[in-house]
Amino acid sequence: MCLSLCLLVYLRGMKEGKTTYNIINQNCLDVFEHINQGIDLTFLDPPFNQQKKYAYHDDNMDEAAYWQFMKDVCTKTFELTNEGGAIYFMQREKNAEFVLTILRESGWTLQNIIIWKKKTSAVPVATKYGKQYQVIAYATKGKRAKTFHRLRIDPELPANYKHKRENGIYVTDVWNDIRELTSGFFAGQEAVRNEDGKRFHKQQSPIALLLRIILSSSNVGDTVFDPFAGTGTTSLVAHQLQRNSIAVEIDPKNADYIKKRLSEIRDADLIGKYYKDYTCTKDLSEIWGENLDEVFIQKRKSVPQTQLS
Ligand SMILES: C[S@@+](CC[C@H](N)C(=O)[O-])C[C@H]1O[C@@H](n2cnc3c(N)ncnc32)[C@H](O)[C@@H]1O
Repeated sequence: MCLSLCLLVYLRGMKEGKTTYNIINQNCLDVFEHINQGIDLTFLDPPFNQQKKYAYHDDNMDEAAYWQFMKDVCTKTFELTNEGGAIYFMQREKNAEFVLTILRESGWTLQNIIIWKKKTSAVPVATKYGKQYQVIAYATKGKRAKTFHRLRIDPELPANYKHKRENGIYVTDVWNDIRELTSGFFAGQEAVRNEDGKRFHKQQSPIALLLRIILSSSNVGDTVFDPFAGTGTTSLVAHQLQRNSIAVEIDPKNADYIKKRLSEIRDADLIGKYYKDYTCTKDLSEIWGENLDEVFIQKRKSVPQTQLS
């Protein structure tokens, strides 16, 4: 099948209630010219060029070629993005300098460098401080975001605080409340596993991370884009929040899994359990949207009524 016909089939997408999701099994660089839909939000979680094993990608590229690849993706994404739309570019902390340069050179305006502080212990390094975070550069097309919902959360009070908070606190640029999906205990039920118990994809992002990004930077009915979709976490969360999504993944095994993950949503992938974390947020039910998935509705109902906004 020629590429355009192939894409036509894929881009027809799946309609579930009001939401459309498209899963495209291609090299993302070949897909941009076929997308004819404005993008409101992009999550960019590429391979980090750190010699990890990918079936369809060389993770040991020449440095200059790798950063040119990233720049091409950022530039093409920028062209497709609606004015005021956002990008969240996740990378290793040591690459922050390249990320900022590339975003600027491809037209984006930096808004925040988010520190995602990992909950696992720091990776020890002999001659410098141990590493405990990853950066997520948040940038917009144009000076101001067209959509930015100031989410409020209510984390446990530090031990020396005397007074209880009345209505939580705004989410800041340090995210230390989202558990990563590494091996062992931290991976929990959410990590997708093969029959032998090993993880299906070593870089699977947590749904709590995408939930925060999508809630902050999009509205119901917007379009969310993920050019390096992996296990499809972005689309999975976007779909439950009634956002449209486009997921591009080069590995057919992963692309097939994304289709399965979205059509048969596992309990561990339901976002309803996080609703209570954001109930201090103004207009939360409007930002979150009404979900049509029966199981999800049940989960949401199980949150005590007093906590619902
Ligand atoms: C870091 S993982 C993304 C993980 C994802 N955030 C998740 O939640 O599963 C990067 C993914 O990009 C895919 N990939 C690598 N090169 C690609 C390309 N040129 N186009 C599309 N996907 C690509 C890899 O196969 C891998 O699954």
